[in-house]
Amino acid sequence: MNQVVSDHPSIPLIDLDAQPRVEQIRQACLSAGCFNVKGGGLNDRVTRDLLEKMTGFFGLPDNHPIKQAVHRNQNSGANGWSPMLEEPAYEAGTIAWVESFDCVLSRERLSRLPGELQEKVVPSIWPEISRFRDTVRIQWDLLISAAHGLYPLVSCLLKQHPGFLAEHASSQALNTLRLLNYPSRPQSDDERSRGISAHTDFECITLISQDAPGLEVQTPSGKWIQVPVEPGQWTVLLGDMVERWSNGVYKATPHRVPTTSWPRRSIVMFVAADSGCSVEPLDEFVTASNPAKFERMTQDELIRMAMARAESNRLQMAPEIQKLRSAINRD
Ligand SMILES: [Fe+2]
Repeated sequence: MNQVVSDHPSIPLIDLDAQPRVEQIRQACLSAGCFNVKGGGLNDRVTRDLLEKMTGFFGLPDNHPIKQAVHRNQNSGANGWSPMLEEPAYEAGTIAWVESFDCVLSRERLSRLPGELQEKVVPSIWPEISRFRDTVRIQWDLLISAAHGLYPLVSCLLKQHPGFLAEHASSQALNTLRLLNYPSRPQSDDERSRGISAHTDFECITLISQDAPGLEVQTPSGKWIQVPVEPGQWTVLLGDMVERWSNGVYKATPHRVPTTSWPRRSIVMFVAADSGCSVEPLDEFVTASNPAKFERMTQDELIRMAMARAESNRLQMAPEIQKLRSAINRD
């Protein structure tokens, strides 16, 4: 892995309650490749509540009936729990030490979407833990509200009218809230081990909160830097859709999590464009010196393509993963 440098640019903080300017976002994206936000209705108490629920859920043994009842693979791929070592490998030859719980749009809101959109979403299943679902839903709404506060800024970053992103990301049908649990791993860990290997996200923007250090992002100049843990702040990464719209002027933020000798949890909200939304370089970013770099593709196609690649990487490691799983089950 490329080394993390210490002489890095700090990650700019945008206060959503202080009428942030597009220029702040632009500078942040060009220098650090991402930015932190606070305000905008984000509430640290809700985040702490959710972390507490996550601790309760992830702390259960894997064979506990509550976990087994929401196991994705035992529920026709429904959005729920994926045990350790089942996360796709974004980089070939790596193993992801993380377990996850995925949540999608509520059934009630899903039912209000057109039928063809409903068919694209496999609803969430929920663990029998008091207020787990309610807490996730509160956090979901706060994050979507904060994202809506960023939409006009990102739209203007893309040299479009302020309503551009809202028009292209109105359904929430492909949004996902992921709850992640990373175990502590020995310092002598296998060199193929990662928390999550380096990748970019496939949507428009991603909001991330972590309760302990571990997340690293790559700046546009190629340096890997650590994202500090700041209670009440969320890190905003640019996704592939923004990179494609801007013809590579604003890079999707590469990020990764190495294994750490301490346990950590993170909450990640992927804010996607609508599934059939086509993305291709906008005219404003295509010039003689920067001709179009990306072919037209829909958000749905982009996610499917990237996930298929990551899943194929994971399947290549299946024999190794099976050995590790057997060792875990023996312990
Ligand atoms: Fe990611």
